[in-house]
Amino acid sequence: MVGKNMNICIVGVGYVGLVTGVSLSEVGHKVYCVDTDENKIKLLNTSECPIYEKDLGLLLKKNIKRKMIEFSTNHKNCFELAEVIVIAIGTPENCDGSANLEFLNSVVVQIAENVKKDVLVVLKSTVPVGTSDNVEKLINKNLKYNVKIEVASNPEFLAQGTAVSDTFNAARIVIGVNSVGSEKILRKMYEPFNRPIVVTDRKSAEMIKYASNDFLALKISFMNDIANLCEIVGANIEDVAVGMSYDERIGSKFLKAGVGYGGSCFPKDTKALRWLACDHNYELKTVKAAIEVNEKQKMKLVMKATEVIGCFRNKKIAILGVTYKPGTDDIREAPSIPNITYLLENGANLHIYDPVGLENIIKLFGDKIKCTNIMEHAIKDAELVFIFTEWEEITKLSFEQYKKLMKTPIIFDGRNCYNKESADQFNVQYYSIGR
Ligand SMILES: NC(=O)c1ccc[n+]([C@@H]2O[C@H](COP(=O)([O-])OP(=O)(O)OC[C@H]3O[C@@H](n4cnc5c(N)ncnc54)[C@H](O)[C@@H]3O)[C@@H](O)[C@H]2O)c1
Repeated sequence: MVGKNMNICIVGVGYVGLVTGVSLSEVGHKVYCVDTDENKIKLLNTSECPIYEKDLGLLLKKNIKRKMIEFSTNHKNCFELAEVIVIAIGTPENCDGSANLEFLNSVVVQIAENVKKDVLVVLKSTVPVGTSDNVEKLINKNLKYNVKIEVASNPEFLAQGTAVSDTFNAARIVIGVNSVGSEKILRKMYEPFNRPIVVTDRKSAEMIKYASNDFLALKISFMNDIANLCEIVGANIEDVAVGMSYDERIGSKFLKAGVGYGGSCFPKDTKALRWLACDHNYELKTVKAAIEVNEKQKMKLVMKATEVIGCFRNKKIAILGVTYKPGTDDIREAPSIPNITYLLENGANLHIYDPVGLENIIKLFGDKIKCTNIMEHAIKDAELVFIFTEWEEITKLSFEQYKKLMKTPIIFDGRNCYNKESADQFNVQYYSIGR
């Protein structure tokens, strides 16, 4: 079953599927990608990258050119060619917070009905503990041909913004298997990456993904909680974070206070694990707290501005940064969204700057907002500035420039981009988080 280079099918060519597919092709596997989104596949077939992710476009072009990666909307053809099928489709949240497995299950049935040779199905999507077992049952129930289909869990840990580098330098690759054969196949697939591999049973692998994401979300919410207390008691969260970071047990990452986490993972993965615990009559108190702190934190800045400014009606307000973090065009669950909604509802005249996220934010707010990819245009004559993403170009802007461009230099910085002390020097009214 396992050759030197393998034939791999990727189902779902989103942030995870595309990065995974391109990376696997780069190390010498032949990759067949399938997605239901016809426009996306059309774009990919012209060698255009549908998402903004550092280095992805170049690797994509290179591997299409040397015929190591192909894109199609035809599941059946792709399944037929593969010895491993990696599922990387979305697992969005349901209204109650649980993970929606509708898309996943429909793909699994398609696999069961179409695969004509032995294959390993790998769940890379983030799925609730127990899903691999259920998927295996679903496959066996719908199997059409006399083939053996095994299921493995292989959660993804890449972070958007650094996704390609994360894949090639992964801290670990987790594989959850229930047979030596599955382990062998996955070891072979990942061998060219030369990264540490952690082998567990399938349920533990599924839990590792949720526990890792929820721990990071908890760390962010903890720091935001402490930041809020710092404001009340007159301490400085940045100094506190530096002081904490010297302790190796704590570490230096994810200690930055701000307007909360967003993106397609932390919000849904915290809710999904909390839901899973509830479903088993267990209250996951720490994760519940992380979610609650984050919900409040997202609106922290705009509430502060309401106290200071009073009314936003007819004011020109500049929004700098809309993506949930720098390095990506993704605005899913970005804290900027509820803030923009609130400001629009309160009559603000919004001028928005983001280096790569404008197309996505326009899809949400249409002509209710004015967008520009020239930061100075957004700021010019503004009475207020809100910062929601710490893009490098934003952090480089000086208070002097704000002073020169704005009608009234008042800045609400949700990502602590600037030195607070220097704001006074330039007579800029500057509000940030936890200091
Ligand atoms: N985005 C991240 O940073 C990240 C990191 C780690 C894990 N994950 C997990 O990986 C999974 C995918 O996340 P994503 O951000 O890449 O999602 P995404 O929404 O960017 O991509 C999902 C893709 O699946 C496609 N799709 C849906 N139904 C399909 C079907 N039946 N057949 C083929 N394609 C289909 C969609 O058209 C879309 O292109 C999720 O479970 C997510 O939680 C995401």
